[in-house]
This record gives sequence, structure tokens and C-alpha cells, in this order.
Amino acid sequence: MTVKVGVIGTGMIGQDHIRRLTQVLTGNKVVAVSDINKEQADTVAGAIGARAYSDGVALINDSDVDAVVVTSWGPTHEEYVLAAIAAGKPVFCEKPLATTQEACLRIIDAEVKHGKRLVQVGFMRRFDAAYRQMKEVVESGRIGAPLIFKSVHRNPSVPPSYTSDMAIVDTAVHDIDTARWLLDEEVKAVSVVAARKNSRGGELRDPIIVLMEMESGAIADIEVSVNIDYAYDIGGEISAETGVVTLAERNRVTVKSGGEFHGKVTADWKERFVEAFDVEFKEWLEAAAKGTATGPSAWDGYAAAIVTDAGVEAASTGSRIKVEMKEKPALYA
Ligand SMILES: NC(=O)c1ccc[n+]([C@@H]2O[C@H](COP(=O)([O-])OP(=O)(O)OC[C@H]3O[C@@H](n4cnc5c(N)ncnc54)[C@H](O)[C@@H]3O)[C@@H](O)[C@H]2O)c1
Repeated sequence: MTVKVGVIGTGMIGQDHIRRLTQVLTGNKVVAVSDINKEQADTVAGAIGARAYSDGVALINDSDVDAVVVTSWGPTHEEYVLAAIAAGKPVFCEKPLATTQEACLRIIDAEVKHGKRLVQVGFMRRFDAAYRQMKEVVESGRIGAPLIFKSVHRNPSVPPSYTSDMAIVDTAVHDIDTARWLLDEEVKAVSVVAARKNSRGGELRDPIIVLMEMESGAIADIEVSVNIDYAYDIGGEISAETGVVTLAERNRVTVKSGGEFHGKVTADWKERFVEAFDVEFKEWLEAAAKGTATGPSAWDGYAAAIVTDAGVEAASTGSRIKVEMKEKPALYA
């Protein structure tokens, strides 16, 4: 079956996902795109022979669209995800699912009423081969019960518009989702500690450690460092009762010369996670062809919102903030 896809939001990542749908993956056709910047939508649509809409809801209700990709700005996600659920169409929504916990809960309610999963949220690390191997090791029981997950999220630099809260809401959010997924449990409390400021970041609270206490008592600590200059570097390690599993370096070759050895570190998130994004969309299309969704759910989008809210409060107050989630609907068991 060919899944006919409509993409809302033709900015940076929207265009990248359109490239992967049209040039990398099979089993789909991008038939419509939409953007409030209609000129941009027209240009993107023209290049792939798709229809262009200025209204995202009209795109969702186009009877020729089977499944929807939402890559517009965060505050617009709720409206489009709800409209896709109302139309009974599978929807891939880039993170965040929505910008408030309440909005995430409205999406959960709508999906639960619909009775089957339609929503997949864009936490692409769950599709990364290395993280998947890490999860397999944990689930095999080989290293015993996990005790501490250390996550490292380093960016070489960020634009001037980047704020201290974005380190939690936009950057650590990926590590937060990864921790919940790898350890297979929810977060109980969050604390945030800031280190001495990196002088490259001006007044930005950077770097920080986000410390999460998980339900079992395991701990997840996330280093977020967004002005570290040398590269985009992602690290992860789980210490468990009888062993440790660590993400390996990504370089495919190392060069030894002059008494030293050298490898490459990825330049940015697009390079680091390019294969993960491809797999994420491959699996989304497979589920969409069956009229449903897979991978990170609306529940995971809600969990990300509630934990990042707690993180922002912890950072501004210096307190340990408890996380109290609603009861998880059976749909997400
Ligand atoms: N998974 C990831 O690692 C990752 C990476 C980058 C971005 N994102 C997410 O993807 C989303 C888009 O990010 P981006 O960097 O591509 O932003 P962007 O600003 O480059 O593009 C967003 C596009 O959405 C359009 N838009 C805004 N409101 C709209 C509306 N109501 N209807 C239709 N189009 C609308 C804008 O005109 C713009 O073209 C954000 O939610 C962001 O957090 C996720």
C-alpha cells in the first residue's frame, strides 16, 4: 500500500522529513504540504508535485491524505494533532506533542475516545541502532537491574535566541524520553544543578545537570552543555548491578599517527541521528499503512511535558520537584 502523506510545516525539519519520505523511503507519496508561509509551501509542493495549502486543517481533511506529519511550530501542534484524531488519520508529530500538560491530556483523551493509537511523537533516539542495542542489553538481564543512567548531550553552540529554559524543554527533553524508555519507568522527582557558566554562553545557565529520580529508585543524570565548541556529542551509559553498557564512539575509523589516535565526532544532530530519523519514518509508515501508530506515544509526549515543566521549576527555584502524573490509560500499556 502507498500511504498518501500530508506535511504541515515546511520549515527546516519539515523539509528534511519530506526529503526522507520522497528520496529515501518507499511505500509513501507526499501528496500535500501546508505552511502559514504559503509561498514556501508552494515552492516545496512544486518541487515534488504535491498540493499546497495555507490551512493545515484543510490539508488534514483532504480525502486524498491518509496520514499527517506535523512539523510546524510547537504551539500549533495540539490543534493539528486533535484534527488528525478527529479525522481518524495516523499522525506523526515532531516534539513537543503540545506545549502544556493540559494540551497533552486533551490529545490523550481524544485518542483514548478514538479507541486505538493514531499518534507518534518525534523522539527519534528510540529508533537509533546504538540506543536499541543498549535497551536490548538491559532487557536481556545480562547486567542486572539498572541503577544509574548517565546521559551526555553536548552542542557546539546555540543561536542567540536560545534561552536557559530551552536547555531543558528543547534539549534535555530527548534525554528525558530516552531515560524513561531505556529504564522502562516513570520519573518521580527532578532537580537541576548549574555548573560554573561556560563563558562562551554569556548569561546562559550552561552547562547544567538534570537529575531525575525514577520510580524504582534508579537515577538518571543528564549533562546538557550547549556551548562546548568541539562537536555535537551524545553519550550514554547505564551502570547496573552486575555490569555496565555504554554507547560506543560513533566514528567508523580511527587514524593513528605521530604517537596519537584520532576519530571524528558528529557535527550536529542531523548527522548524528540521520539513520534514526529514517528508521523512525519507516516504522511510522508501516504502522500508518495499518491505520495506527507505533513508537513514542501521546503518553510519552505528556510525560515529556510534565517532566520538563518540573525541570524548569527545579532550575528556577533550586528545589527538588516531585512529578505527579495522571493515571496511564490502558491504551498506552
Ligand atoms: N526531533 C528533533 O530532534 C527535532 C529537531 C528539530 C526540530 N524539531 C521540532 O520540529 C518542529 C519544527 O521545527 P523547525 O526547526 O523545522 O522550525 P522552522 O521554524 O524551521 O519551521 C516551522 C515551519 O512551520 C510553519 N508554521 C508555523 N505555524 C504554522 C501553522 N499554524 N500551520 C502551518 N505551518 C506553520 C512556519 O512557517 C515554518 O515554515 C518544532 O516543534 C521543533 O521542536 C524536532
